[in-house]
Parts: sequence; C-alpha cells; structure tokens
Amino acid sequence: MDDKDWDLFKQKLNAKTGIDLHLYKEPQMRRRIGNLVTRADMKSFVAYFDKVSQNKEDFASFIEYLTINVSEFFRNPDKFDILEKDVLPMLLKQSPKLNIWSAGCSIGAEPYTIAIILKELTPNVKHRILASDLDVEILAKAKKGIYTDNEIKAMRPDRKAKYFTQTPDGKFAIKPEIKSLIEFKQHNLLKDPYEKNFNLIVNRNVVIYFTEDAKNQMYTGFFNSLVPGGILFVGATEAILNYKKIGYQSYKAFFYQKPDK
Ligand SMILES: C[S@@+](CC[C@H](N)C(=O)[O-])C[C@H]1O[C@@H](n2cnc3c(N)ncnc32)[C@H](O)[C@@H]1O
Repeated sequence: MDDKDWDLFKQKLNAKTGIDLHLYKEPQMRRRIGNLVTRADMKSFVAYFDKVSQNKEDFASFIEYLTINVSEFFRNPDKFDILEKDVLPMLLKQSPKLNIWSAGCSIGAEPYTIAIILKELTPNVKHRILASDLDVEILAKAKKGIYTDNEIKAMRPDRKAKYFTQTPDGKFAIKPEIKSLIEFKQHNLLKDPYEKNFNLIVNRNVVIYFTEDAKNQMYTGFFNSLVPGGILFVGATEAILNYKKIGYQSYKAFFYQKPDK
C-alpha cells in the first residue's frame, strides 16, 4: 500500500464515481480506506478496489462506508427548534413560498424533517424542497422512506404518530403526504454546478473530510446560490470561521445569512 498504489486507486475511484479524493482530507481518508483493505485481507488499495468493483452490492457498501451516511430526524433538536421558531418564520416573511436545498441529505431524514416543520407552519403552501447526495444507493433509501426506531428517536411522540406508519417488521415508514414534498437528485457538491435562488440551504455533517479549500469553495457556491436574505444552516460543530470574508453575516450560531443589501 505505497503512494503509487494510493494514487492509482484515487484515479480509478474518480473515473468510476466522480469522487475526487484530492478534495478530501487525504491522510484521514487514506487511513479509513486502508483499514478496509486490511480488514478484507487484501494487499493493496487497487486490488481492493478491483475486487469490490466486481460486485454491485460490495461496491455500494464501500461507497457507503466512504461517505458515512449516518443521519436521523431532527438531528440536534435544539437547532431545529431555532429553525422552526425563528429562521423559517423570518424567511416566510421574505417569501411565502420557499425554495430549500438539503445538500448532502443522506437517508432523507433531514429534508423530511424540514417538510414536517413546514407542513405545520404553513399547511396549505407547496414549498420546494430539493434534497441531494453524492451516493445513489443512499438516495434510493431516502426515497423509500423507511426508518428504524433509532433514526426517529429525537422526534416528539405526537409527530412520530402523525407522520409515520409502522411496518410489519417494526420499522417506520414516512407517510406519502410528507414523502411527496421532496425532490431527490444525485449531486456531487465538489463537482457539479449549483442551482440558484434558494431561500434556505441546509448542509450539515457533510464536510468532515473536506479540505479547507474544498469547504471554502462550497460555502462560496452556497452564497451565490442564496437569494439576498437567504440562510445557510450548517452542522452543530461546523462553524464557518471566515464567513465574513465570503460575504455572509451571522444570523444565529450555525445559521449564516446572505445580506439583504
Ligand atoms: C453524515 S451524512 C449527513 C446527513 C445529514 N445532512 C445530517 O446532518 O444528518 C453525510 C452525507 O454527505 C454525503 N456527501 C459526502 N461527500 C459529498 C459530496 N461531495 N457531494 C454530495 N454529498 C456528499 C454523503 O454521501 C452522506 O450521505
């Protein structure tokens, strides 16, 4: 597992999936993937890659491991409380119909959480909620909308009862009235162009392995994609240090606003 092996592995991964590991924190990624290679009893990154590439399911779980899909409904409930009681009402004053992007949505818990909150705040308004992720397999799970008890543990019991039906095997299926509110699409935040005119962009727990440059580029891209007055909502440990340089102002901790001019 030398540098040449690692470089060829990166090239092959990029050619097959569009994932460019130069834009991720390399030592951490190399260690993570190295652990996988060792566990599989393989001698090199490339041999491991070639092996998992032969089987669709193995390859899917490799990408899942690489991208870390852990998520849950109302993750950090105190932050979603601020979203519900302060940020969304403020945005709804700017525009009665909101255009929202959950970028790096994983299993869909995040966009469905936003849909639930909006359904309660504005029952008769059809907002747009776009949810995207790099990982097609996880998007398929998001579209199915079936969750474990653990993935909805932070939810209030009345909401659990209202928005899910229980499946015969003890899981929780999100109701069609919420499911139909989300538009899912595959999108690589480090490669693909960004849509414009969002009132709210939610990007939480996605950047953990991104380089500082990649993060900067993405946060600048989000800035350009927000309408004036729009908000970027980031993860509970992901304060943006140079937010002023990009042009944002701080709205609340972990919520950044594009000035209204
Ligand atoms: C830990 S999950 C976060 C899910 C949700 N936002 C939350 O906070 O619970 C991180 C997600 O980011 C996605 N991701 C990683 N790199 C990405 C990229 N370059 N473009 C789009 N999504 C990416 C992964 O596939 C994964 O589903």
